[in-house]
Amino acid sequence: MKLIHKINNQVAGFITWQRIGKPKHGLIEMTRVEVMRNWRNKDIGTELFQRMLKKIKFRKLFLTTHEDNFIARELYEKMNMKLEAVLPNHYYEGKNELVYSIYRNT
Ligand SMILES: CC(C)(COP(=O)(O)OP(=O)(O)OC[C@H]1O[C@@H](n2cnc3c(N)ncnc32)[C@H](O)[C@@H]1OP(=O)(O)O)[C@@H](O)C(=O)NCCC(=O)NCCS
Repeated sequence: MKLIHKINNQVAGFITWQRIGKPKHGLIEMTRVEVMRNWRNKDIGTELFQRMLKKIKFRKLFLTTHEDNFIARELYEKMNMKLEAVLPNHYYEGKNELVYSIYRNT
């Protein structure tokens, strides 16, 4: 599933997510968030994330990100997501992957 932020009919950013398992499990993975380079740091990522949180019902929403993606981590922490786990050397030797999550009662 996907939400797109358009400016002048052009894609300025998007966010994607997928449901894992049955709807009653309420488990969602946020799979991608991206804002086009010239539109970054103008709150579009924040707005997309907030729209997604409003739109979907979930009990747990999680995502993974590279440890050194500090800007993305700022965004996730601003959205109240908590660092849940560190996956050492996950994709590459010497590069850790982080799992962030947020829980909600629905
Ligand atoms: C991560 C990304 C989606 C953020 O989108 P954005 O629209 O630029 O983010 P926002 O303007 O909403 O900013 C959100 C927070 O990130 C931080 N931030 C954003 N740009 C920043 C910068 N250049 N320097 C430092 N912090 C920054 C700030 O904490 C900001 O919150 P604040 O404005 O309240 O201080 C965007 O940088 C991007 O597309 N990155 C490349 C793709 C990527 O790495 N995606 C995540 C992994 S899938």
